Amino acid sequence: MIRIAILASGSGTNAQRLMEHFRMHPAAEVALVGCDRPRAGVVQRAWDMDVPCYLFKGSDLSDGTVQRELEGANIDLVVLAGFMRLLPPDFVHAWPERILNIHPSLLPKFGGKGMYGDRVHNAVLEAGEKESGITIHLVNERYDEGRVLEQVKCVVLPDDDAAALAERIHALEHAHYPTTVETFVNSLPMGTVD
Ligand code: GAR
Repeated sequence: MIRIAILASGSGTNAQRLMEHFRMHPAAEVALVGCDRPRAGVVQRAWDMDVPCYLFKGSDLSDGTVQRELEGANIDLVVLAGFMRLLPPDFVHAWPERILNIHPSLLPKFGGKGMYGDRVHNAVLEAGEKESGITIHLVNERYDEGRVLEQVKCVVLPDDDAAALAERIHALEHAHYPTTVETFVNSLPMGTVD
């Protein structure tokens, strides 16, 4: 069984889809949800799904506490779902090619530090883009730069505001993130994970 840790900072709609998808899965399970904001919606969602929730501070991430917690929980795969902090290099190296992220634009466009949520959608609208989409990618030490696993496009309509675009993007994320993570799990070489 591949043990997945989800890290999230916000509402957690993607985390919820992932928890649902892997609830009775034969190859992988969501072993814990880690969250850096105690009042984030994802905390209640994890609670409702009976998935252990680990709350931590930003300093716990930088001083290695979060890494040790996940190692202690025998986590094989880390899945970021609206997690707003940059992972420290030691953390990234502890799960080489085993950390996934989802970003609400067609990277490399509209990525990088400070680009999350509605900031991304507003930038897409201000640039007059005719299309946007989602990117699911491996995580390295820099924001939004790891190898792309999947991109899915959607139209940007002339009347769109950030909320309308966010809704369309969220629907794409919910449809594709669980299945892309599942495909990734199935592609992991036998014997390289416990
Ligand atoms: C998602 O749209 C995700 O792509 C984005 O945060 C949202 C979280 O929504 N992530 C980023 O912007 C990362 N740079 P959720 O809490 O409802 O899953």
